[in-house]
Amino acid sequence: MRKRYFVLDRRLERFREVLRKRQKDLVVFVENVKNEHNFSAILRTCDAVGVHRVLYYYEGKGDVSINEGISLGAQRWLFLERVYDVSQKLEELKSEGFQLVVTWIGEGSVDFRKVDYTRPTVVVVGNELKGVSEEVARLADIRIIIPMMGMVRSLNVSVATAVVLYEAQRQRQEKGMYDRPSLSEEEMEEIIEKWAFEEIIKRRKPEVRG
Ligand SMILES: C[S@@+](CC[C@H](N)C(=O)[O-])C[C@H]1O[C@@H](n2cnc3c(N)ncnc32)[C@H](O)[C@@H]1O
Repeated sequence: MRKRYFVLDRRLERFREVLRKRQKDLVVFVENVKNEHNFSAILRTCDAVGVHRVLYYYEGKGDVSINEGISLGAQRWLFLERVYDVSQKLEELKSEGFQLVVTWIGEGSVDFRKVDYTRPTVVVVGNELKGVSEEVARLADIRIIIPMMGMVRSLNVSVATAVVLYEAQRQRQEKGMYDRPSLSEEEMEEIIEKWAFEEIIKRRKPEVRG
């Protein structure tokens, strides 16, 4: 029998609908993106595409900020994990069978549409100024580039993330990967419990009026 939560049935059904489409084996790694607008927009796209886990490295003081007006709360529906030892984490994911697809505006990159994103994949995006670090680029299984035909050599990082993720989404949808859950029933129930609990806490918080 399913557990009961103090959340409307239609809200629970929405949770289940979203979780059934979550892609457990599509991970995004954000390397040192500093601008809160960019980071927040990336999170919103991840949620939209059904990314389950977002890992990030941030070298600034404190933690990266999230702008609610831009993320629209997307971070609440994602597994967001800060990484401190980037190489170790990426090596770990590779040993679990993930391919490391690194965005790289330079030599040796292939058109981003040439990659098979239906395989377990980590998509790596980099810092606004420096891009992805050499250290991470060395670990890449594939380096990808979004072709640029204009005078400017790069896209905004959140735009580039969306372009790549929607190609992954297209390929996965074509293969029916959104029609069969990648999370187990137990995993989904665990997440629903967490989301339902957080929803209640959020409802009980007094509104701050300016
Ligand atoms: C503004 S770019 C960084 C520019 C940096 N000078 C470089 O050469 O990588 C920030 C991030 O956006 C992504 N990006 C932007 N344009 C891209 C493109 N045309 N192809 C692949 N990734 C791109 C990459 O993740 C990159 O690290």
